[in-house]
Amino acid sequence: MSGEVLGIDVGGSSVKAGLVDVQQGKVIGTLISAPTPRPCTPASLIPVLVALAGRLGGDRGRIGVAFPSVIKGGTAFTAANIDHSWIGANGASLAAEALGRPVLMLNDADAAGLAEMRFGSGRDCSGTVIMLTFGTGIGTALFTGGQLFANTELGHLELRGMDAEKWASAQTRTVAGLDFPGWIARVNEYLAALHALLWPDVFILGGAVSEHFDEFAPLLRSAAEIRPARFAGHAGTVGAALAAAQDLAP
Ligand code: BGC
Repeated sequence: MSGEVLGIDVGGSSVKAGLVDVQQGKVIGTLISAPTPRPCTPASLIPVLVALAGRLGGDRGRIGVAFPSVIKGGTAFTAANIDHSWIGANGASLAAEALGRPVLMLNDADAAGLAEMRFGSGRDCSGTVIMLTFGTGIGTALFTGGQLFANTELGHLELRGMDAEKWASAQTRTVAGLDFPGWIARVNEYLAALHALLWPDVFILGGAVSEHFDEFAPLLRSAAEIRPARFAGHAGTVGAALAAAQDLAP
């Protein structure tokens, strides 16, 4: 694994990109971003990836793209928070063709988890770890013995008769106008449901909202240890670059 690798994270509201020092797990310079196109279809997103990569330059090496969908062999299999035209589309091939560079695509939460397990809050964890990203939806990454079990999609576990992410995502907190006690009560219920099924040793809480971890941490309850993500909002970008550097194609 060597050098600087371009990582891109496709989120619900913005697409973030950065050159990542994959030996140190650090973004070189600052992340740049562009609004996520609406609708976010293959045709509207690919030019955004090309523009961001063009602004960052770098070598002609492989690019890692974190994407909010089940991804296998570069193809998207689900589309909970993006346009349905993604289902069956091979985003990695489309992006590689447009960029003229090899592209590795993986689930966004898996990417974030890889960054946290290698350089962040999960560094010393050899047991079972669940990384959670709270954003437009809830992304999950499951690790045991340091190995990723890809594409877990536990944000779609049923809670209160609905997808857990509709009940407890950061977006739901904003839309429903929940304060931290109101939202954390929902998060605690979700953590309990996950714990009952998978018995993790550690939960890592990520997404931009984890920047406020100190404010809501006293309200969190779980039988597992709960840690804040170290990379907060840019774990996906760092993890995408790491996956590309190691050629960890799911
Ligand atoms: C998607 C996941 C994604 C998560 C976070 C969910 O709606 O199904 O694939 O990881 O949102 O973006």
